[in-house]
Amino acid sequence: MTKTLTITTPDDFHVHLRDDALMASVVPYTAKQFARALVMPNLKPPITTVDQAIQYESRIKSALESYNHFQPLMTLYLTDKTSLDEIKKIPEYKQIVGIKYYPAGATTNSDSGVRNIDDRYDVFELMEKLDVALLLHGEVVDPGIDIFDREKVFIDQHLLKIHKTFPNLRIVLEHITTKDSTDFILSSSKKVAATITPQHLLLNRNHMFVGGINPHHYCLPILKREAHRQALLSAASSGNSKFFLGTDSAPHLKSTKENACGCAGIFSAASAIELYAEVFDELNAIDKLEGFASFYGADFYGLERNKSSINLIKEDWVVPEKITVGDEAIIPLYAGRKISWRVI
Ligand code: DOR
Ligand code: ZN
Repeated sequence: MTKTLTITTPDDFHVHLRDDALMASVVPYTAKQFARALVMPNLKPPITTVDQAIQYESRIKSALESYNHFQPLMTLYLTDKTSLDEIKKIPEYKQIVGIKYYPAGATTNSDSGVRNIDDRYDVFELMEKLDVALLLHGEVVDPGIDIFDREKVFIDQHLLKIHKTFPNLRIVLEHITTKDSTDFILSSSKKVAATITPQHLLLNRNHMFVGGINPHHYCLPILKREAHRQALLSAASSGNSKFFLGTDSAPHLKSTKENACGCAGIFSAASAIELYAEVFDELNAIDKLEGFASFYGADFYGLERNKSSINLIKEDWVVPEKITVGDEAIIPLYAGRKISWRVI
């Protein structure tokens, strides 16, 4: 018997859309699957002010005439210079839902990030007071720390202290990759939540090296060992509302991935909800998909749950080998692989 599934239209609480022509090429994929998406501010130059965020929102909307139900949710990029006056403007704009912390040098377009997080406690204090969420790229970048330990060391050195100092600050630990993170989230208050990407649910670190080095499986935080992936699977499919969907879909052209210095990032927007459905179904937890994909993120951010719905059918199909953008291509997550759920 054919299996179908109807769920409330999901939201993507972590996506990179970039700008200009590339944004115009990729944003329809996100808008087709999701009602809202929380758009990362790591443009070049980054989105650091309320005015820039509002202008970026309107560029996204105007690239999307045929999906005008789609609502981008905006974030500001925290720098060493972000002023308290800028933060004070945020509560007037309900489409600006948080501030993104990148450690300087941690990942794509993070050069303007924060050099010493301890120096930005003034900002966190104000955010706690104004109830503006802090979105964390939770890694340390000290070259002395092994790349596979960066997330754990961030929790130990910084996150525990931030959460203790600002207990009412809403914090999202983005794209978690380790059991250390699921344990931290489970042991912290309801003010703290996490997003989980499809790649960290589907792949472990071996996948970067199967049959040779595979740059399309390179993202940051980097894929981890299988035991960590298992912890993420349990967390995502547990029905615990502290874990919700954030794809971290990031468009990089094939030529910049298949390169001597390949970029970090995985593009999943064109088949994101299907990939999550695949994961949840394999765990016999398809009934937990809707909470993870459509409810918990909205609840955490104090947004209304979506009223529309989408339908999925259990039917094999193959993820496209590539997505054409101009004369170039993006290689999506699971390119050329068969998956068993499809949006209809
Ligand atoms: O892999 C990643 N790509 N991780 C990030 O944190 C940023 C993202 C991007 O912007 O490409
Ligand atoms: Zn990201």
